[in-house]
Amino acid sequence: MIIKLNKLYEEELTDCQCTCPLQGTSTPVKGYHPQQNVNIAFVGEAPGAKEADYGIPFVGIAGGNFDDFLHELNLSRNEVFITNTVKCRPTVGNRGKKNRAPYASEIKACSGYLEKELTIVNPKLIITLGNIPLRRLLANNKATITDWHGTLFFYDDAKVFPLHHPGAITYNRKLTNVIGEDLKVLKRLVTLQK
Ligand code: URA
Repeated sequence: MIIKLNKLYEEELTDCQCTCPLQGTSTPVKGYHPQQNVNIAFVGEAPGAKEADYGIPFVGIAGGNFDDFLHELNLSRNEVFITNTVKCRPTVGNRGKKNRAPYASEIKACSGYLEKELTIVNPKLIITLGNIPLRRLLANNKATITDWHGTLFFYDDAKVFPLHHPGAITYNRKLTNVIGEDLKVLKRLVTLQK
């Protein structure tokens, strides 16, 4: 897994030549993978400013909440694969300061990378964070995390558990309880898949 992932990132992502509108606007953020095979993958939306600076997913404000999720699940970053649906940072305005959700064209342009990452990692359990990865793995652009959170589905052979995005609690405190309940259910699945 590790050698194949590094090869993918070196050969295709480091000097990304895709036709995405985001190409060249920020450094693509590769998936984070530990030095061992893992069964659990998290898929976020897209990197923000901190992630683009450090080249690591979930190290900004949402990353703090993401680490809290891991803690609740009794997991460390060394037991999971972490990546994003889109590898470059989408901003309002070209190279702007404010993050935005990726457009459908950007998700489509990046979809091959995610596909290849998931094929190589071959997780038994995928946890999607927020609307974007849910829609991508369900292949349904109208699906919402409000409707789907906690509802299991399959992506190839992997179970997919849709969870709210960790950044969502920052602007909607009411989600704390909803997410807490989902994390309790997810913890049982994680224990089985670990
Ligand atoms: N939000 C995401 O979806 N992914 C990151 O890596 C950071 C914030």
